[in-house]
Amino acid sequence: MTSLKWWQTAVFYQIYPRSFADGNGDGIGDFKGIIEKLDYLKDLGVDALWLSPHYPSPNWDCGYDISDYCSVAPEYGTLDDFKTFLAESHKRGIRVILDLVLNHTSDEHPWFLESKSSRDNPKADWYVWMDGTPPISEGNGGSRRGVPNNWQSCFDGDAWTYVPERGQYYYHYFMKQQPDLNWRNPEVKQAMWNVVRFWLDLGVDGFRLDAIGTIYEDPSLTPHTVPMNLAQLRRASELARTPAEKKQIEKYWYDMFKHQWGGPGLHDLMKELRAILDEYDGDRMLVGEDDDIAYMGDGGDELHLVFNFPLMRTERITPDHIRRNQKERLTRLEALPVKGWQCNTLGNHDTSRLFTRYGDRQHDSSLARLHAALVLTLKGTPFLYNGEEIGMTDLIITDPSKLRDTMATWYYHSLVNDLGVDPAEAALRAGEMSRDKNRTPMQWNNAPNGGFSPPGVQTWLPVNPNYKEGINVRDQLHNPNSLLNYYKNLLRVRRNTPALVEGEYIPLHPRAEDYFAFLRQTSAQTVLVILNFSNNKLELSFSRTAALKDKSLHLLFSSAVHSHTDLSPKSLHLGAFEVFIAEVK
Ligand code: GLC
Repeated sequence: MTSLKWWQTAVFYQIYPRSFADGNGDGIGDFKGIIEKLDYLKDLGVDALWLSPHYPSPNWDCGYDISDYCSVAPEYGTLDDFKTFLAESHKRGIRVILDLVLNHTSDEHPWFLESKSSRDNPKADWYVWMDGTPPISEGNGGSRRGVPNNWQSCFDGDAWTYVPERGQYYYHYFMKQQPDLNWRNPEVKQAMWNVVRFWLDLGVDGFRLDAIGTIYEDPSLTPHTVPMNLAQLRRASELARTPAEKKQIEKYWYDMFKHQWGGPGLHDLMKELRAILDEYDGDRMLVGEDDDIAYMGDGGDELHLVFNFPLMRTERITPDHIRRNQKERLTRLEALPVKGWQCNTLGNHDTSRLFTRYGDRQHDSSLARLHAALVLTLKGTPFLYNGEEIGMTDLIITDPSKLRDTMATWYYHSLVNDLGVDPAEAALRAGEMSRDKNRTPMQWNNAPNGGFSPPGVQTWLPVNPNYKEGINVRDQLHNPNSLLNYYKNLLRVRRNTPALVEGEYIPLHPRAEDYFAFLRQTSAQTVLVILNFSNNKLELSFSRTAALKDKSLHLLFSSAVHSHTDLSPKSLHLGAFEVFIAEVK
């Protein structure tokens, strides 16, 4: 139907392996479990999977601290299990991209163990080492630190950790268990490019590049000027009330970290990586965990996609927000020498689940349907996050000993020990900021443990008990009105409607506050999409829209019931929160 590449037409689905499906009954997801669910994914209608890290890891950051890049975490299976998973996915026409963490390794990676052992070992320069005076203990648990500068880790306080064997500090943008690699060292590049080739040779279809913005920092180590440390700033963010306070805090976040990302060198690095992918057949692809379109280079020589995170960076999704976002992003993408392609998402393993985050506690189910329709009808490649298709919600863990996201555990202790916050409040705050809430096990059926693990097994994170209230795959498969069947239908309509995949985006009624209306248009097909973001019934007329003049509409999909499938654009009646998709005839 199209000259587009597979990654432009595909719908991606993110699998968080620890929480997707437990095939061997040990309370942790694994490849056996994922393989058993491939038919489910095929039936759902997704075309490609993004697999969050599946590599061996001490799990200080749930797999994003990798101790061996060319292997599989034993709790997930073996390399052969991975190969079976890849082959079985491909057999079903489903592509697979892996998560590639370039910025840092685990502090248990052999590269780091060697690097930290002395100042003159062969890998001495593979990480970012700096001189500084040793931390001096001052008693009462306090310490005066001789850190190279005041940079913070965005996860756990100081960005510098002292190693007595070297008498030096290493830098870590994330946890101290995640030392930053020194990408200015050509040997580091070669070692990592070998990793890339290892997986490409096995046949993976591409990579989601983790945290690329943090690979290079300001070489002159300019200190930040914010009068707080990380824990204090987090706390201040929680306490900010007025718009002025919130604005100030936002500026502080930016100022605290602005010297630690976006340093010189990333464009050249992305070009090198892209050139490796281009040596392979099959249009292997790269999507960066970054929203900066500049990392697409000229549109053909760096990343294939960057995420449209600005779309989701808002408390409430409104028609005005979407229109402004689309205008800004699409204008920039289309201005690239080789036109860039958009990539939309509303949730992943780092953010509050979209059902919770954009719900209003009254119309959550309708809003979830609207948001799904938004991601699946906008121009660009959609990324879904496992569990969103059944409306999984956040589960706040208020017992700090049960948290697995160690940045939240660190914050809990800082609140209680350094900032004097009451432990009960600290526990709640840590639970709220923890990413565990949106990483709980997938809910497969209405059986103990939600069908994720066998009854009686202790799962790695608690299963959200709302699996008993219909938030599970099996119950929803049997209910024609379920969110799951809604996703399936919408995905089918998208697949069968070329304009929804490849058509241009043409916004309509630019000042409408209640609804977002637009066309998707190819030379052969025009489709009208209306998303009613309000609780009001609407009567709309598109008689002034040239493309709709003297035309009729053939209904392709609606979240409401219409007595006719052929309708007039001059007078359309929409229900509250309705999703309406029709072909112009
Ligand atoms: C990315 C990942 C996140 C991880 C961080 C450090 O932002 O999405 O989960 O904690 O990088 O690797």
